[in-house]
This record gives sequence, C-alpha cells and structure tokens, in this order.
Amino acid sequence: MVENNWWQKAVVYQIYPRSFQDSNGDGIGDIQGIIQRLPYLKKLGIQVIWLSPIYQSPNDDNGYDISDYRKILPEFGTMMDVQEMISVAHQLNLKIMMDLVVNHTSDEHQWFQQSRSSRENPYRDYYIWRDPVDGHEPNNWLSDFGGPAWEFDDKTQQYYLHLFSKKQPDLNWENSALRHDIYDTMSWWLAQGVDGFRMDVINLISKQKSLPNDPNVDADNHSSSMTFVANGPKVHEYLQEMNAKVLSQHDIITVGETPGVTTKDAMQYAGFDANELQMIFQFEHTELDNSHQGLGKWSDERFKLVDLKKILSKWQNDLEGKAWNSLYWNNHDRPRVVSRFGNDTDKYRVTSAKMLAMTLHFMQGTPYIYQGEEIGMTNVNWSSISQYQDIDTLNAFDDLVHQQKRVTSEQMMRYVHHSSRDNARTPMQWDNSLNSGFTTGQPWLGVNDNYTTINVAASLTDQQSIFYFYKKLIALRQQMPIITNGHYQVLDIDDEFVYAYRRIARDSQLLIISNFTDRIQTRHYSLNAGAKLLISNYEDDQGDMLRPYESKVYFENVSGYF
Ligand code: GLC
Ligand code: CA
Repeated sequence: MVENNWWQKAVVYQIYPRSFQDSNGDGIGDIQGIIQRLPYLKKLGIQVIWLSPIYQSPNDDNGYDISDYRKILPEFGTMMDVQEMISVAHQLNLKIMMDLVVNHTSDEHQWFQQSRSSRENPYRDYYIWRDPVDGHEPNNWLSDFGGPAWEFDDKTQQYYLHLFSKKQPDLNWENSALRHDIYDTMSWWLAQGVDGFRMDVINLISKQKSLPNDPNVDADNHSSSMTFVANGPKVHEYLQEMNAKVLSQHDIITVGETPGVTTKDAMQYAGFDANELQMIFQFEHTELDNSHQGLGKWSDERFKLVDLKKILSKWQNDLEGKAWNSLYWNNHDRPRVVSRFGNDTDKYRVTSAKMLAMTLHFMQGTPYIYQGEEIGMTNVNWSSISQYQDIDTLNAFDDLVHQQKRVTSEQMMRYVHHSSRDNARTPMQWDNSLNSGFTTGQPWLGVNDNYTTINVAASLTDQQSIFYFYKKLIALRQQMPIITNGHYQVLDIDDEFVYAYRRIARDSQLLIISNFTDRIQTRHYSLNAGAKLLISNYEDDQGDMLRPYESKVYFENVSGYF
C-alpha cells in the first residue's frame, strides 16, 4: 500500500474571517467568532482550516493588502486571540493554515513608507521602481483590478509597479534582504504554532528584469497582465530557497495560488521531488465561462460540461504519480458553485449541490471547501452596484460602463451577478434570526435574503441536508485509500450532459456518475456483478436512468478495503 502524507488525505475548509462570525456586534467577523464555530467545523469532519488574511491592513483589498505581517487587524482581534484560536483548534485536532501574501504589501507597510521616502533609502529596492519612459509608464502592463499596473510617485519622480490595486505595491524579490525578511516572518508564524501556508499569487513574484511589454494588452481590451507576468525566470529558484530555509524544516501543508499555470508548470511547483510546494491552485476550470468579448471574467455565459471534464481530467491524468492536485469549486474570489455549475433554484439547489460535491470529492487531490459551500449558499442578485464593496467589482464597473463604455450598466449588473467576488463574501448564514446569526449589528456587507431558509441551523436538523452529505464524503476519504490513490479514468469525455469517471485500484474500483442537467438522462456503464451503491443523492437507484442532477457512486470488487 502507498504511504500517504497527512495533507494528501486532508480536507481543507476555507474561512473568510470578515464574513464568518462576528462576536462583538460591530458587523465584522472576527477571531473570537471563529473560535466559537470551531466545534461546528469539527462536526463537519475537516482536518485543516485555511484563514484568509487576518493581519494588519488598511483593507483596500480586504486584508490582501498587508501593512504589518506580524500584527493582527484590531477589527479581527489580538495576537492573544490568535493564540487561543490555535490552541483550541489543536485540541480539536484541527490544523490552521495562514494566508501568506508576499507578492505585494500594502502601501502603508513600513517597508513601502521607507521605500518611497527617497531613492537612497535602504528599502528603496524592496519594491519595483522605474523612471518614466517618454513621460509615461515604463511598460504597458495592466493591473488585475483594471487600469495601468504603474503608479507615479511625485516625491521621487518614479513609477512603482502594482499588479493589483495601487495600494498594493509589488515587492522586489531580486533583493535578497527582502527575501530573508519574508522567510523570517514565515518562521516566526510557524513558531506561533500555525500548520502551513496558502501562498497568494506566489507565481508572480519573479519579474523579467527588462520588464517587456505584454503582447496581450491592446488598448480596447479589459485584460490583466497577470498571466503574462506569471511563472517568471527566477520563481523556482526563490521557492526552492524558501523551501530549504523554511518549509523543509517543518511538517506543514503548503499550497500556492498560481494563475496561468499548465500541468507542466505544476510538476515544477508541486512535483513530489521538486522541493517547492506541496500543491497549487490552478485556474483553468474557473475561467471556462470567461467572456468571448475580451472582458475576462465579466460575462454571464454558461460553462460547457465537456470543457470542464477536459480540464479536470487533464489535471487528474497529468499529475498522477508526479505531483499533487488541489480540488476546489470556489473560494473568496469566485462565485458560488451551486449558482455557477449547478442549479440554485428551490427545486434543484440541494440535489445539484450534492452532485457537485460528489463529482469533486471522489477525485485525486486535496479538496477545499469554501465557507457556506457545505450548506449550498448561492450568489446574490443585488439590483444596485452601490450594494457591492469589492474593489475588483467596483473598478470593473467604472472601467467598462463609465470609462470605456463597452457595456451598459444593465448588462454589467448581469455580469456582476454572475461573477462578482462579493457573491462569495456575503456573511455566513448560521440561522434564521436577524442578519443570519452572523452579527447583532450592521453587517459590513449585505446578507443574502435567502438566509431564512438556507442556513446552518436548518442543515443540522435535516439528515438529508447538503451538510451531512459533505460530512459523509469527508469521512469516506478518511476510510477509503482508493479515493486518495486510485487511478482516475474519465468515461465518454464528449458526453455533454453526464460526467462519469472511474477510480481504479489493484483490487477495487469506484464508478462515479453525475447528471449535470435538470432532465432525465439514460446511460449504461458496465458494472461487475457484486458492485454496490456506495453513496447517492437520491433515495433509491434506478439503474441506467439518471434523474435531474442525480449523482451516485458504485464500489466494485470488494476485497479488504471495507
Ligand atoms: C489573490 C487573492 C485575492 C487578492 C489578490 C491580490 O488572488 O485570492 O483575493 O485580491 O490575490 O492579493
Ligand atoms: Ca467583530
């Protein structure tokens, strides 16, 4: 039998602290709120919690703009609260993975304050500064949040690079003092008892020295230079250095957020012998409903199942035995999966949410559940852009509707309903009391109106809920090594409506069948005698007839795995 690392069998739950649980009525989720809810996560059965950033930050990008890596944002609590959270989590056998955001800092970080103060300051070189070229930006790169990726700073008459907002200047990883400051910070956090890191846009840290123009940018395109900059010349050198200095010294979990990677890149970042990271988040399946009019994610196009199958199957097959996959449907940057790939109408929300869970959780890799996914939370459809808070959404609305006038505001609202990051960021729906039990005060972002029916309390009293379905899937992964180690084989990849695949081990097999439509589909897959139904989102089994969003798994050749 294959020996697995603990993180290969783990299921991770992502908390977006601002929206998880408020404990003091100020409308903002906090660390004491997380502590209150740890028993809930224990009940779900997950092993690891990934916390989106809780560090000091002016919140231009909700904490992804950090002004002090070793201080906690007072709205979230104190370092003592963090200590308490780590110790309560550890008592419950839950691990804590921190978000590490080191491609950029906040412009309010001490380093940047020093850096911008003069060209001679020792911290000048911690960031990427360039002279204007013919009175303009040094190159044509675009920020991922719209507009140029360069900001002119009057004081020293140079531009600094920011691939995200202008309050998020990019760090200069060429500078070894900067790199070692970061490694020290990581070691400091590990000494506080945290169990790993999720590394924000970590494949953007190395830029080509000559800063060449991005050939994908043309004046009337709303693109981003993120993928052009990704996977730069020294990124593997830096990650191997980080691994040697910090990661390899600890038994921790690491995952890199890596836009624009291929499976070949993944071997380098997350290969079993690569000495870099344990796994990465690839973006391909989250971009398959992108706009065909060059508007990036701003679209309301529906995905095609065949595309989804091709992407996920490629990742399953290419990485097998060589590198490790992360498995995710959504996170704080993506719309809710039941609204996007499932069906969030009353009639099919529960069934389709279970179907999606099943389709993903039987694959090879480490699954990530985003808060609220386990109760089938949905997108929001607010009528006015003023109800939204996300910098990315607000900038894009302004850019596409007002500046470039490429879409009408009605059209853009449809895209916002489909793609805005705020879909995932509305407060967690705990119960049907005021503000969904998230806060007794005024929530920082509106609660989805459907909280009166979709909430944790209701899920916990219903044995047929999505929650208990997730709990079962998580438990099965712990019990059945074939889910971690079996070989993946997709069936009928060109079938537009049904996603079916096998997991194959030496003496047993799983057959996973998911109907992605609201119609009956009839399919025949061969099963050995003795095959038995392991789990299903319907009460009975109708053989070849697949009801709307039906999903089921058969286990074959029982021998010793049970
Ligand atoms: C990552 C984060 C996102 C953030 C961006 C800049 O993509 O997940 O929330 O805005 O990096 O830090
Ligand atoms: Ca609070």
